Amino acid sequence: MTPEPLAADVQEAVALIRAQETRVPDVALVLGSGLGSLADLAEAPAVLATRDLPGYPRSTVAGHEGRLVFGRLEGRDVVFIQGRVHCYEGLPVRTVTFPIRLVHALGARRLLVTNAAGGINPAFAPGTLMFITDHINASFANPLAGPNTDGGPRFPDMSAPYEPGWLDQAEAVALRHGIATRRGVYLWTLGPSYETKAEIKFFARLGADAVGMSTVPEVIQARYLGMDVLGLSTITNPAAGLNAEPLTHEDVLVVGRRVRDQLQRLVKAIIRET
Ligand code: HPA
Repeated sequence: MTPEPLAADVQEAVALIRAQETRVPDVALVLGSGLGSLADLAEAPAVLATRDLPGYPRSTVAGHEGRLVFGRLEGRDVVFIQGRVHCYEGLPVRTVTFPIRLVHALGARRLLVTNAAGGINPAFAPGTLMFITDHINASFANPLAGPNTDGGPRFPDMSAPYEPGWLDQAEAVALRHGIATRRGVYLWTLGPSYETKAEIKFFARLGADAVGMSTVPEVIQARYLGMDVLGLSTITNPAAGLNAEPLTHEDVLVVGRRVRDQLQRLVKAIIRET
């Protein structure tokens, strides 16, 4: 099969970036809510505003400037995707996954996705770090819907979206460094409203351990492109109905900040040792 040429917007964005930055990232890291500061870990950073890149989605959230941060992390070339956008902002799912098509075109073959999630599994208290073993697409949107023009299969396999070998290695790294982690299934809801108690009961029965409003589109896009994926959720709150208190975004951010140091330690060790 002859690969299709890159979409014009990806091609143009690559050319603009390559004029400024020539390093080829090994790993791309998507930074979730409250985790944006992970990019501060980059050594010899080159920070590119994504505002002027054709096709690159703009976050509608004030203060969430989109940036690509190229740099070295623990001896590897990486690129951080800062200022993730979500479908709940009203953006088409295909637009949401543009950054993944872009980092793939820039050479990244591994994707480490992070997010903040509500805990459905009652054993997952706020602050739990959960490796994603699998996901449930409960938003029924798919970034691959439409003409198949990006060179991958029309019907990509999703029986192991999170690379099992990488997951095992990352778990072993966590163990070596004394960082407690769990494994679980992540379920994607569109949002932006949090779930009802009845929805959480329903999702628990479906086998979900955690719920959130991101990640799944990016993972589908990355797998289509043949990238290896590792997913890491920070459980920031008990999901609706599992706690007496109503949910607020502020709680999510506070817990995210609380475990940030540990998460940073884990991410660095994974990049270094896997
Ligand atoms: N539900 C959906 N998304 C979330 C949650 C939640 O409880 N916590 C953090 N992101």
